[in-house]
Amino acid sequence: LDNGLASTPPMGWNDWNAFGCGVDEQLVEQTADAMVSSGMRDAGYRYVNIDDCWALPNRDAAGELVPDPAKFPHGIAALADHVHARGLKLGIYQDAGVHTCSKGGGFSGSLGHERQDAMRFAAWHVDYIKYDDCNVPADGQNVDSSIARYVAMRDALAEATAATGQTIVFSVCEKGDYGVPNSAWPGIGNLWRTTYDIHDNYGRMVWILHQNVALADLAGPNRWNDPDMLEVGNGGMTDVEYRSHFALWAEMAAPLIAGTDLRTMSPATREILTNRDLIAVDQDPLGAQGRPVTDGADGHWALSKPLADGSRAVTLFNETDAPATISTTAAQLGLAPSVDYQLRDLWTHTTTESAGTITDTLPAHGSASYRVTPSRWPSVGTPPHVAVGLTG
Ligand code: GLA
Repeated sequence: LDNGLASTPPMGWNDWNAFGCGVDEQLVEQTADAMVSSGMRDAGYRYVNIDDCWALPNRDAAGELVPDPAKFPHGIAALADHVHARGLKLGIYQDAGVHTCSKGGGFSGSLGHERQDAMRFAAWHVDYIKYDDCNVPADGQNVDSSIARYVAMRDALAEATAATGQTIVFSVCEKGDYGVPNSAWPGIGNLWRTTYDIHDNYGRMVWILHQNVALADLAGPNRWNDPDMLEVGNGGMTDVEYRSHFALWAEMAAPLIAGTDLRTMSPATREILTNRDLIAVDQDPLGAQGRPVTDGADGHWALSKPLADGSRAVTLFNETDAPATISTTAAQLGLAPSVDYQLRDLWTHTTTESAGTITDTLPAHGSASYRVTPSRWPSVGTPPHVAVGLTG
């Protein structure tokens, strides 16, 4: 969606993966504080996002959504103030249907209330909306209806922005339920979910990788494939697996929405989430999504992501359950010939030289990530700086 609000993939936090329906004002405020004190804000994380279950089940007499007073006693606008005062932005969840997705009935959806709700969110100074598509009427369970529901909210948000000046990132959470192809979303959302929900286990994370990695053509500035929020730190994977999860999401230019309790995260979790070299890969201004160099069919992956300065980010990933040596070359990554290349290890943050081969022996489920930059002119032909010296 060409609204200029997501020139690089959004970065932030969302409560759902760690807390489910357990969101409240205290959690959001403390998370905003933790985002500052942990260094996450300084590493680039901006959005503090409230997921489902924040509202009362029904609208008020004026048809307005009402935050649950037991969970948000001071309301959403006051919470936005708290978040904004820390240099962060506030996001909220809503649904395009009659009710939201959460089990147990759900909460009021926006169907037929799009303009009223968009104005409400703008008035609360909400900066980001994650818009789901659950519980739609029986006659709305088809591609065209689903797209129409999202277009209605996209246009309502644009109107609300024009009226109030409040800009709102539009995060599409339709998951192909009614046969909508992912290619429908780049003109509608700033990001769109490409799969069903992530779970905190390795198999599910890899299942998402396989689907999302095939969609690189769709991604670019202001329009990103969303393979769902990060599970890093939630306990269902090893740190080796979480490092692979984070590196693969960065390689795919995915939104980096942390999904763990930032108030209590371990040093290892914090180190993964604030890895500046990988964040720079994710946030690279070219906005290209990495692609597999090999097909990954044997579970041995090499992904290559073109970067704005002409270098490539490469992630070698061993999907299999046994250690493996995985190799690729600068030529395979799509780099111009060079006598040698600088290889910056994005986990140790050290740089070595390579003649063009990148190889690692990786543990089961492990990965290695590098930034590969040609460091000299090709050996064939006259280096330009010499030519300048001779003619000048
Ligand atoms: C869907 C979404 C999740 C979460 C829940 C909330 O399952 O995919 O990310 O927002 O709804 O009910």
